[in-house]
Amino acid sequence: MNTINDIKMIEFSQLGDDRGQLVVIEGGVNIPFEIKRIFYIYGADSNTVRGQHANRQSEFCMINVSGKSKIKAIDQQGNEKIFNLDRPYIGIYLPAMIWKNMYDFSPDSVLLVLSNEHYDKNEYIRNYDYFLGVDKK
Ligand code: TYD
Repeated sequence: MNTINDIKMIEFSQLGDDRGQLVVIEGGVNIPFEIKRIFYIYGADSNTVRGQHANRQSEFCMINVSGKSKIKAIDQQGNEKIFNLDRPYIGIYLPAMIWKNMYDFSPDSVLLVLSNEHYDKNEYIRNYDYFLGVDKK
């Protein structure tokens, strides 16, 4: 069973020079999975809570490439932790079967999400009580 202790913040190298910064994310190199899917969330306001689900298979790496947001992560034991995403070179790695809420989006927030799986709505768990009880191993 994955717990909040399996969540990792990742600081990516900034390949900067006088032309600006560049950050490289390579699947299996500086994040712990091969990348099959990329999506990004923008235009969410500070009152919006997104996510509110767990995933049976999908792992994620999330980076606020612009602006800020927060992630509240909860494991199946009910332990929770809040992470701030506020720099374009900081990512959060979330393993499968972690409940996540994304919120407190700044007006300029662009939240980039990388995943090891293609989209499959059937692997999303959207009922919190069910999440707490299901398949604990
Ligand atoms: P949703 O899961 O509510 O977004 P989030 O949890 O990231 O806030 O997804 C919003 C809509 O987009 C929903 O209709 C499903 C669709 N969607 C896809 O088609 N593919 C994807 O990879 C994702 C993440 C969502």
